[in-house]
Amino acid sequence: MTSEFPKATDLGVIERRGFLRNAGFMVVSLSAIGAASPVAAATQTGSDSESDVNVMQGALAIEHEGIAAYRIAGGSGLLTPGTLKIATIFMGHHQQHRDSLEALIQKAGGSPVAPKSDSQYAQELNLSALKSEGDVIALATKLEQGATNAYAGQVAALQSHQLTHLFTQLCADEAVHWATLNNAMGVPIPAKAYLFG
Ligand SMILES: [Fe+2]
Repeated sequence: MTSEFPKATDLGVIERRGFLRNAGFMVVSLSAIGAASPVAAATQTGSDSESDVNVMQGALAIEHEGIAAYRIAGGSGLLTPGTLKIATIFMGHHQQHRDSLEALIQKAGGSPVAPKSDSQYAQELNLSALKSEGDVIALATKLEQGATNAYAGQVAALQSHQLTHLFTQLCADEAVHWATLNNAMGVPIPAKAYLFG
């Protein structure tokens, strides 16, 4: 697995391509989106069905995993300051997603699924195999792709139009994460459309 990933020295491309400058732009943009208060909007109808709660629970589990992956990787000592800054921003997005989903699940009368332990995540994600910054970015890219696919697929299962809007926002955030990391690794954007879902 490790041999397939770029070496840490390849990651200078992050700085060269101005990802840190772009990351600052993303924070501002996403803050503006957050000002629309997705939780408030999604709870206005009060029509969250049990099936929607189940979908949200699955999404919440994905967010817990993303937070843990970025937090553990961030503390691994494998990341350079520039990459750590991006990872921290992305972790913050996942934490905001988590907060929205937990609030909505509770609003609907559900009990939000709890995160697993760090040791469980470490085992499931095979974190002990990560030996370089490139390894970490490759794993994060894979997780972001999975999250984007999951959200794109889950939208069709939702009953609430407001929740559909929220999940579209979540999907877009994950797509930004994937695209940023994918580009940092120098992997070409696929020529074929419909990248996710
Ligand atoms: Fe993400």
